[in-house]
Amino acid sequence: MRKKVTKAIFPVAGMGTRFLPATKSVPKEIMTLVDRPLVQYAIDEARAAGIKEFIFVTSRGKGALEDYFDHAPQLEQELRKKGKDELLDILKSTNMDSGEIAYIRQHRALGLGHAVWCARRLIHNEPFAVMLPDDVIAAEKPCLQQMVEAYEETGGNMVAAMEVPAEKASSYGVLDVEEDMGSMVKVRGMVEKPPADEAPSNLAVIGRYILSPDVFRHLNKIKSGAGGEIQLTDAIAREITEGNGVYGYRFRGQRFDCGSKSGFLQATVAFGLSRDDLKDDLEGYLHEIMSARKAAE
Ligand code: G1P
Repeated sequence: MRKKVTKAIFPVAGMGTRFLPATKSVPKEIMTLVDRPLVQYAIDEARAAGIKEFIFVTSRGKGALEDYFDHAPQLEQELRKKGKDELLDILKSTNMDSGEIAYIRQHRALGLGHAVWCARRLIHNEPFAVMLPDDVIAAEKPCLQQMVEAYEETGGNMVAAMEVPAEKASSYGVLDVEEDMGSMVKVRGMVEKPPADEAPSNLAVIGRYILSPDVFRHLNKIKSGAGGEIQLTDAIAREITEGNGVYGYRFRGQRFDCGSKSGFLQATVAFGLSRDDLKDDLEGYLHEIMSARKAAE
């Protein structure tokens, strides 16, 4: 029997400089899509996939993140007293049990591979997930759950994958495909942020991974790669050289790059339009401004 994936690492140590000045005092992961912080979407997705332990790799200035995951007994009491049951339920649904969540400090910004490596002592000899909360994925069946189901068949290592325009491939980890089986591809190699003319394909890695603990062994040895950083992609690629399976999984769903302002705005609109309490107003407003812009052209 394959070991179940019950732990997930959330690398959240990045400074979020693209969102300055907001990120001067608010961690990027706490910024809200409609009314939920970015990180809540990742937690909900992880829970749906059977994750029981949530490991956050943080850095200085991320205190608000720990506070967000704390219980709020006073607030709960207030809402109870006022009979605001719906809000109380929303609040309580974000509570984390004691011991369910752990925080590790990444003391220096040495890259994604290094951030994951910082959590090595909390993962034993078991497969684990890595989730990058910047990549928000709207899907009928949450992306990580789709991957866990696929992983039960394949084992090995699995990364979420998505076709991107060829000129954008150099912003991603890119897969060199050995065999294309449709929703799944077998991977022959992986390159982190290849120069435009060297990308082996336009199938990009998106921030969801299911990894074998062997990846830590590779991270122990790996030197800095693309951008002078210790890259997770390079450690996963070593699995292939050792003859262990690496698969790309073309998930069903829409991915928003919430690490970019434009992606964040698009996600805000899309999530707003998917909400019963907001969609009419928002749709009306979008029509209005689009027609006003057309008329002004
Ligand atoms: C990271 C990974 C990259 C992956 C991307 C997905 O890059 O290193 O392989 O394609 O996330 O969002 P970053 O966007 O942090 O530079």
